Amino acid sequence: MEKSADTMEKIVSLCKRRGFVFQGSEIYGGLKGTWDLGPLGVSLNNNIKREWWKMFVDNREDMYGLDAAILMNAKVWEASGHVAGFFDPLVEDVKTGERFRADHLLKDAGVDADGMSLEEIDAEISKNNLKSPKGNDLSPSRQFNMMFESRIGATAGPEGKVYLRPETAQGIFVNFKNVVDTMSPKIPFGIAQIGKAFRNEIAPREFLFRVREFEQMEIEYFVKESDWEAEYEKLRLDIVKWHEHLGLAAENIREYEVPENDLAHYSKRTIDFEYNYPGKGFDELAGFAYRTDHDLKNHMDASGQSMEYIEPDGSRFLPHVLEPSFGVGRAITAVLCEAYTEDEMNGEVRSFLKLPAHLAPYRVAVSPLLKNKPELVDKARTVFGLLKAEFGNVAYDENGNIGKRYRRQDEIGTPYCIVIDFETLGQEKPELADTVTVRNRDTGEQERVAIADLLAYLK
Ligand code: ATP
Ligand code: GLY
Repeated sequence: MEKSADTMEKIVSLCKRRGFVFQGSEIYGGLKGTWDLGPLGVSLNNNIKREWWKMFVDNREDMYGLDAAILMNAKVWEASGHVAGFFDPLVEDVKTGERFRADHLLKDAGVDADGMSLEEIDAEISKNNLKSPKGNDLSPSRQFNMMFESRIGATAGPEGKVYLRPETAQGIFVNFKNVVDTMSPKIPFGIAQIGKAFRNEIAPREFLFRVREFEQMEIEYFVKESDWEAEYEKLRLDIVKWHEHLGLAAENIREYEVPENDLAHYSKRTIDFEYNYPGKGFDELAGFAYRTDHDLKNHMDASGQSMEYIEPDGSRFLPHVLEPSFGVGRAITAVLCEAYTEDEMNGEVRSFLKLPAHLAPYRVAVSPLLKNKPELVDKARTVFGLLKAEFGNVAYDENGNIGKRYRRQDEIGTPYCIVIDFETLGQEKPELADTVTVRNRDTGEQERVAIADLLAYLK
């Protein structure tokens, strides 16, 4: 099916209606740039994170996990360069005071502002006679630091200042020595972390795509400088495999080589993995940067602690770093966009989520044909118990008629629906006793499967 901006609207509405994603602080009118995950959203979110951890940590010998504190000493962010350089260009509507990202306003007007200085941005705004969306003049642009600040303890002075981390990466760098000393990893090796990050985005927008609080799944992969290109290529292929595992079609993924003048302050090479979001087109899903020895070197200089890696032969060096960085919210958005499908079934238009089974909030739903027949309900509860003990994420659904249940489960992406009917009880055809119907979400086709074979069938 052709997907468009209209599709995105339908996905956002489905997410709200079916309990995937709610607006943050909704009953108070919301809080811009925040979203809350509902029961099904948290399940999808956890499935993505679990699969990522399995692929990048558990299934490899060269990766170590970490879970660092969100609050870190402010010196971390001075050394990393974020206090001095983590900016986006901001302009204001001179009448209303509303704030916008200058580079995004220019992009909407067809001007690529990547890597431009503030003077160049102002010149382009003036040349293109750009106004605010309300038609008012725009202020000159200025740099806006995206880190949220807070205070720790009861100190009022500058020593109490802390930042909410804008990337999980620094938690990894400051623990580099701890991991080396405790785990004795052989280089090359990586340290992986999943956790919240916070950015005071000037203009949060596009659902989960640009928010102020989000989760990242990051790896800092430590290599010898001379090996960085070969290791970069290996990790690049692993990222390609990850996106396949999310079920994203190859034609909807594009690798964008970030031009030198638009690289982050720490990067010597970055590929953005972009997804073709409906109605928006290709935009960043994940980043893959070569951070050189920027971070370890800066932390070594600022803390006075050695960050050198020592080889078994006693030689020492500062490792260089490759960094695949994934946003969980952007992965959820891409997965939902890819999965959203409309077709025609039994003469009716149906919309459903064609989610891979390993990501679907429920792997399977179990129903009694009729909810007012205790013998059907008893049997359905037994089958439900059996499957729930094995898979965990199994739904028991007896609301409405069977057609409505199928539609509801299709819409939330449940790959299979199992129905317990009178044949299961052996009342109509004894040879079908202890078999159930299993309906396939994508084709709508039904099969008769023995209860004894169900676990193997669903695996
Ligand atoms: P963009 O150019 O879209 O602002 P970015 O280049 O600032 O993104 P990175 O700094 O590379 O993003 O962050 C690494 C990853 O973290 C991104 O690929 C994305 O998946 C995620 N991410 C970054 N900022 C946000 C945000 N505001 N909301 C949701 N996810 C984000
Ligand atoms: N750690 C890379 C980023 O968040 O930008």
